[in-house]
This record gives sequence, C-alpha cells and structure tokens, in this order.
Amino acid sequence: MSNFSIIKADPDQIEDIIQIAYATWPATYSAILSPEQLSYMLEQFYSKTHLSERMQKGNLFYLVQQAGASLGFMELEPDEKPGYTKLHKLYVLPEVQGLKLGRLLLNEAIMIAQQAQQKGLFLNVNRYNKALHFYEKLGFECTETVDIHIGNGFYMNDFIMQLNFK
Ligand SMILES: CC(C)(COP(=O)(O)OP(=O)(O)OC[C@H]1O[C@@H](n2cnc3c(N)ncnc32)[C@H](O)[C@@H]1OP(=O)(O)O)[C@@H](O)C(=O)NCCC(=O)NCCS
Repeated sequence: MSNFSIIKADPDQIEDIIQIAYATWPATYSAILSPEQLSYMLEQFYSKTHLSERMQKGNLFYLVQQAGASLGFMELEPDEKPGYTKLHKLYVLPEVQGLKLGRLLLNEAIMIAQQAQQKGLFLNVNRYNKALHFYEKLGFECTETVDIHIGNGFYMNDFIMQLNFK
C-alpha cells in the first residue's frame, strides 16, 4: 500500500471520523473497558455535535487517506497547556494498523506543533492500552498517572505521556 496523504478535516468529514472510531474502539478497548463504558464513551466523545463543537473551538482534526478513503485520524489542541499541544485522539483502522500510518500522523503532529513554536506534545493513554509502547517508541515518556471521572461512575485510568522537542 502506498500513496497515503494527510488532510485537515472539515465539518463535512466528521462522519469519516465517527466511522473510524466505531470501527476501531471495540478492537482496542473491549479487553480493557466494560461494554457499558465503551458505549458510553463512544456516545459522549464521538457524536456529531460533540465533534463539531471541538472543531468550532479550534481543535484541529487530520485524516490519513488513500484514494479518497479515510483510514485514520487525529485531533490536536495547540496550547492545551502553555506551550504544549495535546494529541487528543489517534486512531487507525484495525485492518491497516502496522503500516506506519500512526507514525505518519504523529510525525505530522510534531511538524504542525513545531511550526506553531510549541515546546512539545502530550497525550493521555489508557494504562492497559498497548499503544503506550507505540508512543514510547516515538520518544514519549510517561509523566503522570491519572484516574479521571468521566460521569456515570466511569473512570479513565490513564498515563500522561509527553514528548519534548529539542
Ligand atoms: C496505536 C496506533 C495509532 C499506531 O499506529 P500504527 O499505524 O498501527 O503503527 P505504525 O505502523 O505507525 O508503528 C510505528 C512504530 O511503532 C511500533 N509500534 C506500533 N504499535 C506498537 C505496539 N503496540 N508496541 C510496540 N511498538 C509498536 C511499530 O513497530 C513501528 O516501529 P518501527 O517504525 O520502528 O518499525 C494504531 O495501532 C491504532 O490505531 N491502535 C488502536 C487505537 C489506539 O490505541 N489508539 C491510541 C489511543 S491513545
């Protein structure tokens, strides 16, 4: 596979983001979260309204595509804490994981943040998600362990990981 491109998503492409999330979350989280929490989080964080609001407030969404088909996405929030861009979401469809699309998106995030004079990137990752080893491979380090209440008695048990630019 080749000829991948990264494009900035506009509101018309929110449906692509939702489809990728719904195709990727069960494979990623069904061994980590209860079915109830998984459904709750998808409903909370991947409704059209919620994603539109995040785009409107200035969060940046990018899609990786091949021949017009969307295969993965990420969401960035510059200056979520002073000088640092937060990578809120990074998901690649299960059938194309391992083909360096995650690395492609993350390298784009680094480039965008550096161009905006940011000092680094940070993110939350579930402590039991093997994706944390992907982030380690790309140079992120764990800076904090957090348990965040997200409503309905559900918690996100996360590591915060950070990459400082040189
Ligand atoms: C995590 C994810 C974004 C990585 O993207 P990907 O396209 O599958 O990974 P890549 O092919 O770009 O891998 C890049 C490098 O990381 C390594 N890597 C990827 N996943 C890894 C893992 N679980 N453990 C260790 N290393 C890993 C690869 O071996 C590769 O190394 P190399 O370039 O030196 O050969 C993707 O697998 C995914 O969407 N997973 C499910 C959703 C998820 O957990 N997202 C993160 C939420 S915080």
